[in-house]
Amino acid sequence: MFTPILLLFHVSVALASCPILFEGRIPQYITPADFDKNSSVYDHQFVHGDNQTWAQIIKFPAVAPSLFDIPKNAKPLEVTINDKSLFTPGGGATQVGFRRSELVPANNNGTDITVQGTTTFHWSIRNDPSRPLNFTHEYHPVWHETADYSTSEITFLTGKPFNASFDPTVHNPLTLRLAGRQSNSPETTFFQTPFVPDIWHNFALTLGWDSNLLTLYYSQEYLPLVRVVGPTYNNNAGGGQFHVGMLKLPTGPLGIDVLHQGYQEEHLNEGLIYGGVFIEQSSKGCVTLFP
Ligand SMILES: *[C@@H]1O[C@H](CO)[C@@H](O)[C@H](O)[C@H]1NC(C)=O
Ligand SMILES: *[C@@H]1O[C@H](CO)[C@@H](O)[C@H](O)[C@H]1NC(C)=O
Ligand SMILES: *[C@@H]1O[C@H](CO)[C@@H](O)[C@H](O)[C@H]1NC(C)=O
Ligand SMILES: *[C@@H]1O[C@H](CO)[C@@H](O)[C@H](O)[C@H]1NC(C)=O
Ligand SMILES: *[C@@H]1O[C@H](CO)[C@@H](O)[C@H](O)[C@H]1NC(C)=O
Repeated sequence: MFTPILLLFHVSVALASCPILFEGRIPQYITPADFDKNSSVYDHQFVHGDNQTWAQIIKFPAVAPSLFDIPKNAKPLEVTINDKSLFTPGGGATQVGFRRSELVPANNNGTDITVQGTTTFHWSIRNDPSRPLNFTHEYHPVWHETADYSTSEITFLTGKPFNASFDPTVHNPLTLRLAGRQSNSPETTFFQTPFVPDIWHNFALTLGWDSNLLTLYYSQEYLPLVRVVGPTYNNNAGGGQFHVGMLKLPTGPLGIDVLHQGYQEEHLNEGLIYGGVFIEQSSKGCVTLFP
């Protein structure tokens, strides 16, 4: 008496054996303050406002677990930004144009196993109705930055593009989008889907670090992931780090230095909810599409 769903579940369990390179799903006992400890699976120091702690930034909202949280009995987490989300990079000036709070895997030092061979980055995302974004701004909820910080291999975006000419195919700010290497001008937008509120949007992105291939999978809620892009060419050179969280650009005229200039409203209280964050080894073609 197997229903098709049950059958699929059983088959996927049998196949779900891709080696995990980073486990970012959050056990129930973890507290926001645990993200400030060196035992955190995410970098406990970066990236957030100079005078902030993760204890102030991370929330655990009462939402149902995402698709890939379920097999681990993991809980979703929320990453928030406010007026204090002002980051100063080593040796640089405070980035007063941006508001930033981003989790980076602690083992992800730029040249580690998550940027070797072919690897798949998983995340699920949803809005928080009590901490809405302002979609007249551009946001980067996920990206992969090269180890030399000069560009990003991929950027996952929402909101209104700061430079409309840079994203000429983007006409609806209320979308979740995947773009390729950030040094491409204009940007290569591989995928766009409406940012439907109050549901989970599940993504898996396979990057071939030597093959320069990119494949994207997507589903909503509790459906299995489906391939929506690729495999297609993207310049994946440069290793680096996976960022999951919030980077909010300012608004302002084209040509300003967005890191240090532009407009951000005050009394900011915005957040995005994430679940099911993990990285797996896909060099033998293994990608987990369903828990
Ligand atoms: C981790 O933090 C603890 C204190 O919480 C400290 O005793 C220990 O030396 C730290 N370890 C490293 C590797 O920094
Ligand atoms: C952090 O706090 C110090 C001391 O109050 C202050 O001088 C500095 O401007 C603050 N930095 C940021 C980025 O808010
Ligand atoms: C990064 O981590 C790997 C594996 O732990 C290590 O072999 C390598 O030397 C590290 N690289 C840097 C730049 O620290
Ligand atoms: C949204 O952002 C725009 C541009 O920065 C700003 O003018 C507007 O006041 C913001 N809206 C809210 C509700 O904060
Ligand atoms: C906006 O994007 C276009 C297309 O990529 C680019 O040519 C232009 O230089 C960008 N404008 C600014 C001010 O960065």
